[in-house]
Amino acid sequence: MADIAVVTGSTRGIGFETALALGLSGYTVVVTGRSEQAAADAARRLGERGVDAQGQELDVASFESVQRLADIIARDHGRLDVLVNNAGIAAEWDAPSRSQYAHPESVRRTLETNVIGVFHTVEGLLPLLRRSDSG
Ligand SMILES: NC(=O)c1ccc[n+]([C@@H]2O[C@H](COP(=O)([O-])OP(=O)(O)OC[C@H]3O[C@@H](n4cnc5c(N)ncnc54)[C@H](OP(=O)(O)O)[C@@H]3O)[C@@H](O)[C@H]2O)c1
Repeated sequence: MADIAVVTGSTRGIGFETALALGLSGYTVVVTGRSEQAAADAARRLGERGVDAQGQELDVASFESVQRLADIIARDHGRLDVLVNNAGIAAEWDAPSRSQYAHPESVRRTLETNVIGVFHTVEGLLPLLRRSDSG
């Protein structure tokens, strides 16, 4: 059975390229994003390039979402070998209005995704990483 990798935020950009590199190295890759459709599309594009990929919805800002992903990986693979915490946003770029220093809503979204999201993801997936010989 191939090693299993999860890349958070792999529907595009650096995460997608990381998933591609892992997949071409022989990993089975779980590609994730907030939209189930975008994750499925990314998995299909990786599949076209010879990668064994599975698309799953994941919002790292929601611990419930992380737990749902953990349940799916436990059911389908029983363990996790690699976790890449890549998902992140630059909310200041699309803030609803200019701010003096840091738009309050952008700060909240950035912290929820880029900081708390990493804690949620590790908390939810660490039990599966511990089942791997090389997690
Ligand atoms: N590109 C740069 O120059 C640069 C520089 C410094 C740091 N970084 C960091 O590198 C990482 C990747 O950057 P990138 O340029 O590849 O970004 P990107 O093209 O905007 O892609 C971000 C990815 O994160 C996902 N994502 C966003 N919010 C999420 C959430 N709450 N839960 C789960 N997935 C989420 C997006 O998927 P969906 O929209 O489908 O959910 C997308 O797949 C980010 O953490 C970014 O902050 C990038």
